[in-house]
Amino acid sequence: MKVSKICCIGAGYVGGPTMAVIAQKCPEITVTVVDINQARIDAWNGEDLDKLPVYEPGLDRVVAEARGRNLFFSTDVNKAIKEAEMIFISVNTPTKTYGEGKGMAADLKWVELCARQIAAASEKNKIVVEKSTLPVRTAQAVKDILDNTGNGLKFQILSNPEFLAEGTAVEDLLDPDRVLIGGDDTPEGREAINALVEIYASWVPKDRILTTNVWSSELSKLTANAFLAQRVSSINAISELCEVTEADVSEVARAIGADSRIGSKFLKASVGFGGSCFQKDILNMVYISRSYGLHEVADYWEQVIKMNDHQKARFAKNIIRSLYNTVNGKKITFLGWAFKKDTNDTRESAAIYVADHLLNEQAQICVYDPKVSAEKIYADLDYLNTRSSEDNRKYVTVVNDPYEACLDSHAIALLTEWDEFVSYDWSKIYNAMLQPAQLFDGRNILPHQDLKKIGFRVSAIGKSNI
Ligand code: NAD
Ligand code: UDX
Repeated sequence: MKVSKICCIGAGYVGGPTMAVIAQKCPEITVTVVDINQARIDAWNGEDLDKLPVYEPGLDRVVAEARGRNLFFSTDVNKAIKEAEMIFISVNTPTKTYGEGKGMAADLKWVELCARQIAAASEKNKIVVEKSTLPVRTAQAVKDILDNTGNGLKFQILSNPEFLAEGTAVEDLLDPDRVLIGGDDTPEGREAINALVEIYASWVPKDRILTTNVWSSELSKLTANAFLAQRVSSINAISELCEVTEADVSEVARAIGADSRIGSKFLKASVGFGGSCFQKDILNMVYISRSYGLHEVADYWEQVIKMNDHQKARFAKNIIRSLYNTVNGKKITFLGWAFKKDTNDTRESAAIYVADHLLNEQAQICVYDPKVSAEKIYADLDYLNTRSSEDNRKYVTVVNDPYEACLDSHAIALLTEWDEFVSYDWSKIYNAMLQPAQLFDGRNILPHQDLKKIGFRVSAIGKSNI
């Protein structure tokens, strides 16, 4: 079967870039991305490619090439469902904030709504592809809804988890390590798998397209994120040990990363991992394990989250301790708010939690981030519900100029590894700060010895000898 029309439900960080690349690479397929969020769709359709709702290096060029040719963004969900032979579900699956499984389980409300809408709107058989990250065995629930609430049509459910990382989404999509497709081992299941394989094979070598059963595919996605997050928590645990033993975490990471059995990636000690996926997916795995009575498995993975929370908290505590145990009324500059560089996404960013900690101590925080708006920063703080939104606006200011952000500041906390931070005129910044000027590098990207020569008191992750 050759697919000629695709619909993707959810025009977010995954749906938008993924479909843009499919449309670019498969000009013969019409790709329609739909969303209930009108503002988001308007932004995807906007003239100004600098204002796409998702900032990703290179995405503007891909969208410019395909949009209006075979890539369309719309809020008419039913029409797109009706016309498509293959429907991707790429809606959000955040951690539940209420009821059974609160704070742990994935909230599948939006996935279920999609399934019901697909069932109601469809007039012919379809392939439904889970692109969202879902708990293992969710495909069963999706199938159950489609089979029982549809118009007697036949649906094949595939799991095709997305492995792109934000900030490198376009390159990850264009040149993925692997594409994973899970489906039923039946003639219809195999036909559906092949239809999706053929789409990816337009630009991905076939030996990188892995096919498995649906359950392995769903669980592989949670497992990949759990393993990656575990590496970050492992090196962050070692960073604390380095700080008391005068070992240097960068040297330790280089030494162990050179062992080909360990590998060098994901060994950067940091203020803690963030992003919409790691915490949510591990919590989800912990919840599933517990619900099967596997308490040791659950405890094992939960420790990755505990270590991450500890890393964020100890970064904030170190700032307070170094500022003579009080930050009350002191201006502290945050360089970076996004959860990593090259994205405007702030979900679960370490900066939010470090700020919350310092605000509890009544610090005055001034934030500069090259891509994150003031509105988003306040929304992130308000979402925590720790204090009133008036207080968040009273104690936090957001500016568009890094030098202004550092003016008359007691301390700088670097929270995101944006490249531009390295090239600043650090002498100029030093001279504009209150003395002693303190700098806390939460990403270990600055030239610490040079900064020390300028006069800064520098503190970094996993380094005691600066
Ligand atoms: P997102 O919040 O950026 O986008 C989801 C979009 O779905 C939103 O725009 C929302 O309005 C829309 N939506 C929700 N319900 C809808 C409905 N019923 N009909 C139409 N639109 C609807 O989320 P995201 O970051 O793109 O993540 C989507 C999924 O992909 C999640 O399951 C996530 O775990 C997974 N994932 C994310 C990443 C990542 O880096 N962000 C990577 C891999 C996998
Ligand atoms: C992650 C997975 O990498 C990706 O495959 C999946 O599809 C979605 O979740 P993402 O959250 O976009 O991607 O970013 P990632 O590069 O994994 O970084 C996650 C967090 O870990 C960031 O806050 C990053 O700064 C931090 N990190 C990463 C470290 O602190 N040290 C490292 O060595 C690597």
